[in-house]
Amino acid sequence: MLLHDALIVDGSGAPAWRGDVLLDGGRIAALGAALPVAADVPRRDCAGLALAPGFIDAHSHDDAALIATPAMHPKLSQGVTTVVTGNCGISLAPLATPDPPPPLNLLAREQFRHASFAAWRDAVDAARPAVNAVGLVGHTALRLRCMADPGRPATAAEREAMAALLDEAMRDGAAGLSSGTFYAPAAAADGAELLALARVAARHGGVYAVHLRDEMAGVLDAIQEAADCAHAAGLPLVISHHKCAGRAQWGRSLQTLALIERLAERQALGLDVYPYLAGSTVLREDLADGLTPIRLTWSEAHPELAGRWLADIARDWGCREPEAVVRLQPGGACYFQMCEADVDRILTHPLAMIGSDGLPHDRFPHPRLWGAFPRVWAHYGRERGLLTLEQAVHKMTGLTAQRFGLRDRGLLRAGAAADLVLFDPARLADRSDYGDPCVPADGLAAVWVNGALALDGRTPQARAGRVLARTTPAAG
Ligand code: ZN
Ligand code: CU
Repeated sequence: MLLHDALIVDGSGAPAWRGDVLLDGGRIAALGAALPVAADVPRRDCAGLALAPGFIDAHSHDDAALIATPAMHPKLSQGVTTVVTGNCGISLAPLATPDPPPPLNLLAREQFRHASFAAWRDAVDAARPAVNAVGLVGHTALRLRCMADPGRPATAAEREAMAALLDEAMRDGAAGLSSGTFYAPAAAADGAELLALARVAARHGGVYAVHLRDEMAGVLDAIQEAADCAHAAGLPLVISHHKCAGRAQWGRSLQTLALIERLAERQALGLDVYPYLAGSTVLREDLADGLTPIRLTWSEAHPELAGRWLADIARDWGCREPEAVVRLQPGGACYFQMCEADVDRILTHPLAMIGSDGLPHDRFPHPRLWGAFPRVWAHYGRERGLLTLEQAVHKMTGLTAQRFGLRDRGLLRAGAAADLVLFDPARLADRSDYGDPCVPADGLAAVWVNGALALDGRTPQARAGRVLARTTPAAG
């Protein structure tokens, strides 16, 4: 298959150029200004379109979606060809329980039936998802598996049990460890517990992705804590969905990025970010501070209220917002808690890669689930001029592949896996928003996964994804 006369944006950040790409047997066979090929090789004319490596979602919660909805339409329709799962300490495996507590209930609760990473991997592969997956193992899942009372630090015996499960998962291809000590019950973990597990991931060449203990007043201490743990364990750190949350923190990305740059001089470190001013997670009373506009994404007690503003619900009920949160539990929400200057600074930082943090099981999800990747180019690049096309693509491909050690993905070069996205750079745009969150993006022409045509225009084609085996991340 010859992709002819495309604007080639190769994922490295290097200047784009016009040329041809030849695909063969799931790989990129050759690139060139005008490749000589036999007349019987099928060709697709790509004039006026950009051809890039398939986007890699550095931060997803797609562990269950890959199995339950293998078409993966929210991601594939953005040009995403690989998702990193198991973020924020929340992974489907290795945990089998009929009733996962928050925040694990961000994932489909009936899907917690994989007692090992290998069982989850096999279930994903059997579902034949449309995109590839890279799996992290969540610290919170390990705790719930190994601790009778997760409301306290793990004992030495419990640490060993968790370490043994993580060791097995790493041997079966997990990409590393994630944690989310922002959330109970993981918040009860002490440094010894986290370090013991990070060391296991390090031994296998994995990464450590961290939802910081605090993204508000204590954000600098929380960055330092995560960095010290990764440094002591000797593995690369990924700071998840970096943000300065809550009005009192606005502007503090100047401080957090300065600290991150200093730390990056001593250790391998990166961060992911999504291109929006609202965050989204489970419903929490402490976040209903009266200053942050909050919009309900799901509620088990009142499913019919998904999509409504918390302030309106509280007014209808004649109560205060924190009380309304209690009555809506369990549930989730969008929190409009960031300022534009911080998101601009973080997103354009050279260490920042793009992760959607999309929540695929929410009834009325944050629009990042369907729009994060096109929005990076459309809003931050084309409309506002904060990123070149090459920079935007690099943050969604080559940089991410390097962080997670995906040696043959994220770049267009001979021999690489043929994960590609073809789009119109003048038209690529997110169409989902907070009021209408499940709308596919515009401007995509085609997506290939492992060499198979996965999306043609708006029409899904082959489902050719699988769980990717871990390879060792490069230093730096
Ligand atoms: Zn998180
Ligand atoms: Cu997350």
